[in-house]
Amino acid sequence: MPASLPLTGRRVLVGISGGIAAYKSAELVRGLRRQGAEVRVVMSAGAQQFITPLTLQALSGHRVCTTLLDPEAEAAMGHIELARWADTLLVAPASANFIARLAHGFADELLAAVCLATDAPVILAPAMNQQMWANPATQDNCELLRQRNIRLLGPAEGEQACGEVGYGRMWEPDQLVDALVSPQERGPLQGRTLVVTAGPTREAIDPVRYLTNRSSGKMGYAVAAAAARAGAKVVLVSGPTILPTPQGVQRIDVESAHQMHQAVLEVVDHCDLFIATAAVADYRPVAAAEQKIKKSDAALTLALEPTKDILAEVAARPEGPFTVGFAAETEDVEAYARAKLERKALDMIAANGVGQVGCGFDADCNALTVIWRDGRVVLPQTDKSSLARQLMDIVIERYHAKN
Ligand SMILES: Cc1cc2nc3c(=O)[nH]c(=O)nc-3n(C[C@H](O)[C@H](O)[C@H](O)COP(=O)(O)O)c2cc1C
Repeated sequence: MPASLPLTGRRVLVGISGGIAAYKSAELVRGLRRQGAEVRVVMSAGAQQFITPLTLQALSGHRVCTTLLDPEAEAAMGHIELARWADTLLVAPASANFIARLAHGFADELLAAVCLATDAPVILAPAMNQQMWANPATQDNCELLRQRNIRLLGPAEGEQACGEVGYGRMWEPDQLVDALVSPQERGPLQGRTLVVTAGPTREAIDPVRYLTNRSSGKMGYAVAAAAARAGAKVVLVSGPTILPTPQGVQRIDVESAHQMHQAVLEVVDHCDLFIATAAVADYRPVAAAEQKIKKSDAALTLALEPTKDILAEVAARPEGPFTVGFAAETEDVEAYARAKLERKALDMIAANGVGQVGCGFDADCNALTVIWRDGRVVLPQTDKSSLARQLMDIVIERYHAKN
């Protein structure tokens, strides 16, 4: 049996949009295949003005896909199949126009539709005139995409096809291939599985009423996105939220604390890190009424029983994952968090005060004090996605120090 190559088993969908650097995509496809990847190519109409689908077909070994609204193409490998097939999408070159359309969620041509429909990581290699790159519209679009977990490789600085000099050159094909091969570029959690819980739970009182809390899931979803960007395979066990699933994340929806417990037990066996951001109900009604409880003038007493402590159970597993808890407190935040870290034998805890204005439950911002046995870092108030990125940096450092 031949030795496996660095990209053996990988399914890379190369998207080509309409820029002069499209001629380099031929070399890119060859390079990816040389490293063992299976490659399929999607070209925009603009791209076909610069290089022919026939060239890319010959180099990839597959028919090149070019049109969205084509019954014949849809019957073969349509946009959803392509989106599901790929484990990585690399758009090279990514034109200013394509970047703008992706940032604004257009799906009126095949390449953009596939990028929207996939849950695989999307990587862009921008290439354009240096003024187009520097334009605030392009810069804002790129920032939006970065926030959504889309990675940008380049552009590089240098001489351009138009004769100008500056940032806008596409990374060379071999640099792009190296980026897909190198563990560092694929992220410090490459090869690791991480389970995140997020959101509130709902504990049924009767068929129409439940007990819940103010958690929106925003912090947990931001953590899941940051972990995926760090290269981990991420499973997000989520209570009810209105949030979209972050790019590259597998999501399991649950409602009650009991369902969250079950779902976590099913996935935690082979995971390397467990981050519990969910606001799991501590108590649930002893029995949910089968029929709607009728209103009356008498006082109503609900009998509650404790739910299972998912975090403590995961932390107590022999050979268990690196475990990070969250502590949302309204007073003595740090003291309670430290006590929880010790009591549940966690590797780390992130404490936040939920009483502060603009912070905590349902807010877009948060501030955290991250505590472990012999260390502590304060992360000042900022938006939850920046905060999640900073938290993941600490988690990754502590995880690698322990393993
Ligand atoms: C000769 C020529 C070269 C071009 N090179 C680039 C380029 O390098 N980058 C870019 O963003 N746009 C470039 N453009 C403009 C794009 O082709 C144009 O915005 C097109 O609509 C892109 O379509 P697409 O993103 O759907 O592929 C170029 C246009 C021409 C005529």
